[in-house]
Amino acid sequence: MTEGPSGVEAARWWARMMRDPMDAYGALFRRYGDAVRLPRDRRRALFLLSRPEHAEHVLVAKQDNYVKAFTYRPLRVFLGDGLLTSEGETWRRHRRLVQPVLAQRHLAAFAPGMAEVAARAVARWPDGVTLDAAAHMRRVTLDIVGRVLFGSDLAGESDATGRALADLQRSAVIGLGATFLGDAGLRRAFRLVPGARRAGGQLDGMLRRVVDERRAAGPGGEPDLLDLLMRDGELPDAELRDEVLTLLLAGHETTAAALTWTLILLSRYPAARDRVEAEVDEVLGGRDPGAEDVDRLPWTRAVLSESMRLYPPAWTIERDAVADDDVAGAEVTAGSTVAISPYLLHRNPDLWPDPEGFRPERFLGEQDRPRHAYLPFGGGRRICVGAGFATMEAVLVLALVSRSVRLDLAPGVAVPSRAEVTLRPAGPVPMLVSRRRSPRG
Ligand code: HEM
Repeated sequence: MTEGPSGVEAARWWARMMRDPMDAYGALFRRYGDAVRLPRDRRRALFLLSRPEHAEHVLVAKQDNYVKAFTYRPLRVFLGDGLLTSEGETWRRHRRLVQPVLAQRHLAAFAPGMAEVAARAVARWPDGVTLDAAAHMRRVTLDIVGRVLFGSDLAGESDATGRALADLQRSAVIGLGATFLGDAGLRRAFRLVPGARRAGGQLDGMLRRVVDERRAAGPGGEPDLLDLLMRDGELPDAELRDEVLTLLLAGHETTAAALTWTLILLSRYPAARDRVEAEVDEVLGGRDPGAEDVDRLPWTRAVLSESMRLYPPAWTIERDAVADDDVAGAEVTAGSTVAISPYLLHRNPDLWPDPEGFRPERFLGEQDRPRHAYLPFGGGRRICVGAGFATMEAVLVLALVSRSVRLDLAPGVAVPSRAEVTLRPAGPVPMLVSRRRSPRG
């Protein structure tokens, strides 16, 4: 059974949704429960479904009936045929190419590069300085994805690339208000947005340079993801560009958000932070962490899991129904949108005792909860292709930070969240650096 507003009341909810979608989702959940229907027009509606069995049904059991929702359309204008936004045969072809490279058995090879980028960044943070943790985490994760997946080509252009990716996301969010235009209309509309045009041009130029340089240099050494994507000319140039851009965007912003929220939470929960430091000191004893350490740092991992429970970077997963369906009692009409929100699922009091509390111990040992109660990486065949990569990266970065420094939120600073493409802190996150050891760790 679904409940929900209708008529003028529904229009009010839509207006609220435009202003602050996550706040509106939370309020709908509190007002109407975990299966809410919000009418969009005479036939279609938005269904906000927040039980694990809903997630199981939409993302796994009946996934053939669901495609990426209309809310992905603005992003698709920029990312085209990359994994995140494509469908059908194109998606399948890209997934077949990318997934094996990011599979668990290859990840160990990425660890030294990840650790080196993070160690270099942390070494540059002087004692007693206040820095913007959000910006630094974005920079570290962008450098890592550039370095590990595409060689060091990005190094000189990180700042400009980061800015362009941020502009592109902002434009995609603005575009959410104009999805009625369709793809061609949106593309034309984006040409009028100065930030979007500049960002698109900058990123296209950078990607063309990276690919051209690689073509000129030819294969050599250990192949990275770009080599594999270019192998045998499997992807036409336009699709190659779309996939590289997708991996740059999907591969840095989410992990940066997860790490930033984790640093904020650790600053607020000093006992949990003491335990991270003790674990890291004991396991690493001062050396750089590697892939084999990820399983040896269970508390550090649990802290990251709990942080992604409270602040899932991908805070909503949305699909459009192809045909009418019945989702655990909710009658979903064709063309309707279903939102499965990890944010709501992760704070559902029926699934999580003390849902607002930061309790990493929930993720230690045997865990007795429905499989789809925890969805930071989504589920079904569209599950995050970089989940293993992100987990390893986040553990290594957090271990390297914790080994050398403590970061404390400036006193009295509140950190409001902003839910756009990802759920992240709304502004800069000023944190005071206290060095635990010499910069060399
Ligand atoms: C903490 C970090 C991350 C989180 C929370 C996250 C979350 C997610 C989620 C929830 C999805 C599914 C979206 C949907 O079903 O609509 C997804 C898809 C995806 N992610 Fe991640 N992600 C993270 C890191 C990464 C990294 C590091 C990469 C690349 C190296 C990556 C690449 C992708 C791609 C390409 C997709 C689309 C997959 C497909 O549809 O086949 N992500 N991510």
